[in-house]
Amino acid sequence: MKKCLLLLIPVLLVLACSRKTVPASRTKANENIPPRTYNASAVAQGRVVYTNRCGRCHGLKPVQKYSAQEWEPILTVMIRKARLQAADSVNVSAYVFSGAKGN
Ligand code: HEC
Repeated sequence: MKKCLLLLIPVLLVLACSRKTVPASRTKANENIPPRTYNASAVAQGRVVYTNRCGRCHGLKPVQKYSAQEWEPILTVMIRKARLQAADSVNVSAYVFSGAKGN
């Protein structure tokens, strides 16, 4: 029984670490403020993800309705609600932030 528990620890560690998906476009220095320039292909792919996955529960919200700062906490919750894969999360964030109010 003890052996089983010991085997579980690395598995849990891997699971715990793989959950944190930080968008590739962010650096440590501006972790909380999304950058103002975005990879064009990420934005294009993010637009598709947004259209397909973000209007299932409510109408598609206009991205320019919120600033990047306002979008941050909303996206954190909504990406989870939409059960997006890591790559889709990065792309949808690029699309949303690139079109956010003030950008
Ligand atoms: C599983 C259902 C579901 C999915 C999928 C979903 N949302 Fe939502 N969303 C909600 C609910 C519930 C609310 C709160 C009620 C409302 O405003 O309609 C909400 C609210 C919002 C709001 C308003 C937040 C506020 O504070 O005013 C925005 C913006 C939003 N969602 C964006 C998104 C985006 C972007 C996606 C795709 C990544 C998404 N949603 C996917 C359920 C969902």
